[in-house]
Amino acid sequence: MSIEQLAETAQAMVAPGKGIIAIDESTATIGKRFAAVGIENSEGNRRAYRELLLTTPKLSSHISGAILYDETLRQSTQAGVPFAKYMAEQGILPGIKVDKGTTPLAGFPGELVTEGLDGLRARLEEYYRLGARFAKWRAVINIGEDIPTGTCIEANAHALARYAALCQEQGLVPMVEPEVLMDGDHDIETCYEVTEAVLRSLFAALYEQNVLLEGTILKASMVVSGKDSAEQADAQEVAESTLMCLKSTVPAILPGIVFLSGGQGDEDATAHLDAMNRLGPNPWPLSFSYGRAMQQAALTLWARDTAGNFRKAQDIVFARARDNGLAALGQWQG
Ligand code: 13P
Repeated sequence: MSIEQLAETAQAMVAPGKGIIAIDESTATIGKRFAAVGIENSEGNRRAYRELLLTTPKLSSHISGAILYDETLRQSTQAGVPFAKYMAEQGILPGIKVDKGTTPLAGFPGELVTEGLDGLRARLEEYYRLGARFAKWRAVINIGEDIPTGTCIEANAHALARYAALCQEQGLVPMVEPEVLMDGDHDIETCYEVTEAVLRSLFAALYEQNVLLEGTILKASMVVSGKDSAEQADAQEVAESTLMCLKSTVPAILPGIVFLSGGQGDEDATAHLDAMNRLGPNPWPLSFSYGRAMQQAALTLWARDTAGNFRKAQDIVFARARDNGLAALGQWQG
């Protein structure tokens, strides 16, 4: 796989006005989302729901790629077309979540490290054959009393860099995701400091592992106030702090940065992205890779009447994609 091909894929992922839809919830995580709206977590329901999302009419006008879970990459539309093939025909890049989730970091209470490096090369080889062109790995950083520690940040950065190098070896663009969680009552300054330390450590590790930044996408969390903080920063402050943090840590050669929504409200996620792009020009395209902020409203409506609301739920998915696509250009009208 040439550098050019990886760079071309990475650039396509952040094409102007387009972003990524994250539908890569593990079976356990989608189970929680389904339970909240009264849907049984069966293979058939998971397939039907992912079909609803992926076959949304005109999705590709605002969506460049979708991150799938292992199970979904092996499933097909009701008409029997493998999802990856269907997506490729629509001009949507198939992506795959390749980490195996988090586990407590031994010796560091309250901190997590992401697993999944063992056997990863063979899994990536298969995912490429099944049609995946990019791969996501999520590290999780908790903010709390005396955490995160440098050890936790470095352990996660090291794993992210090892996975990224393996992805590029197998022709997949790594979407490196170090998520600083919103949970807690910390202020936005604390989130800034932690995010800055995490990104510094990540880019040092990527450099150490010979990862080509030209063929890498960063999936970042925004710099925000803790969910339970009494003082909530507004959209302008979130945009300014996030941009300042990214500009001081992320090399300009990176093809693009996409954000996770992380529990932000749908409108907030759109408003924050829009505000950042209005503050541009920025060194990289800034777009979205939202999970909950893309799906929540559609899932809730679909669950009320899975047959009757199928098309209406797709209309909501399309509207979320359109609004976030506009925000990626700094043209969202609210
Ligand atoms: P959220 O936008 O719901 O945070 O999900 C994005 C994602 O892919 C997290 O890994």
